[in-house]
Amino acid sequence: MDIIVIGSCMTDQICYTSRLPKPGETIHGTKFSMSFGGKGANQCVMAAKLGAKTAMVAKLGEDTFGRLYLDNLLRCGVDVGHTTTSGAAATGVAQICVDEAGMNSIVIVAGANLELSAADVARADGLLGSARVLLCQLEVPLETTLAALRAARRHGVTTVVNAAPAQPVKDGDLFELSDIFCVNETEAEIMTELPVRSVAEAETAAAALLRRGCRAVIVTLGAQGAVYAAPGQAAMHVPAERAERVVDTTGAGDAFLGALGYFLACVPALPVREAIVRACRIATDSVARPGTQDSFPSREQLPAELLRP
Ligand code: RIB
Repeated sequence: MDIIVIGSCMTDQICYTSRLPKPGETIHGTKFSMSFGGKGANQCVMAAKLGAKTAMVAKLGEDTFGRLYLDNLLRCGVDVGHTTTSGAAATGVAQICVDEAGMNSIVIVAGANLELSAADVARADGLLGSARVLLCQLEVPLETTLAALRAARRHGVTTVVNAAPAQPVKDGDLFELSDIFCVNETEAEIMTELPVRSVAEAETAAAALLRRGCRAVIVTLGAQGAVYAAPGQAAMHVPAERAERVVDTTGAGDAFLGALGYFLACVPALPVREAIVRACRIATDSVARPGTQDSFPSREQLPAELLRP
C-alpha cells in the first residue's frame, strides 16, 4: 500500500450561484449537482487518480448515499476493506455554495464519519503498517485521528495531517505526531490565533506551528502558492502558477494534499520543494473544472514528466 487515508466521506450537494447568500437571504442559483466529497476521500481519490495504491479507512451510513459512495471508491480503484458502515448515523453530507468567482462556503453534517473509532483504526493496523504515507484530516473524531497517528509513528509510516476543518486543538500529540502539518491560511489563523494574510505572516504562523512540535509545516495560500517550513532551515515560499480559468475551487486543497501524498509515497527521491511545486500545479489544474473529485485530473491527463522523479 502506498497511501492510507483515515478520514471522511461526504455526499457533496453543490449549488452554483452568482454570489454567496447573505444571512437570512434567499437567492436563485444557476446549477445544482451532487457528487462525492469529504476531505479524506477526496485526498485518497486524488492520489489514486495519479496511480498510487490507496486504501480508505472510513465510515458510511447504511443508506443509498453510502452504497453509492462505496461504488465510487471501488470505481476509483481504492481498497475498501476497511470502509465500513454504521447503523447509527447517515452518510455524511456537505452543503456547498460556489459563486461566480469559484469561491465556496461549506457546511458539513458529518453523520457516520463521527462513528469512525479508534477500534476501527486498530482493526486496520496491519494495513497501516504496510503503507508508506498516512493522510489524516479533522472530519472524523480527533481521538480516531490521534490513534491513527500513534499507530503510524509506531510503524515508521510518514504522517501528513491536514488540520481541516480547523478547530482549536489543545492536544500536543496532533502536532508532535505530524511529519508534515498542512493548513490553509484560514486554518492557520484558527490554529495559531495569528493573522495570515501575506506570505510573511504565513511564515510566522508556520514557525509557531513548528514550535508546537510538527516536524514540518506547509501553509497553503491559494493563488499565492504555499509556504514550507522545517526546523533549522529558512522558510520557503513556493509560488503557484496562475490559473487561466477558475470555475470551482472546492477540493483544490484536497487535490494538493492527495498529490503531495502521491509524491511522498511514489516518488520519494523528489525534493520536498519540487513535490510542493508539482502538487500546487495539480491543484491549480483542478480549479478549471466544477466539482470536487470530478475535477481532479487523472495520470493520463497530466504531462508524464510531472509525475516522474
Ligand atoms: O475540501 C472540500 C470538501 O470539504 C468537500 O468535498 C466537502 O465534502 C467537505 O468535506
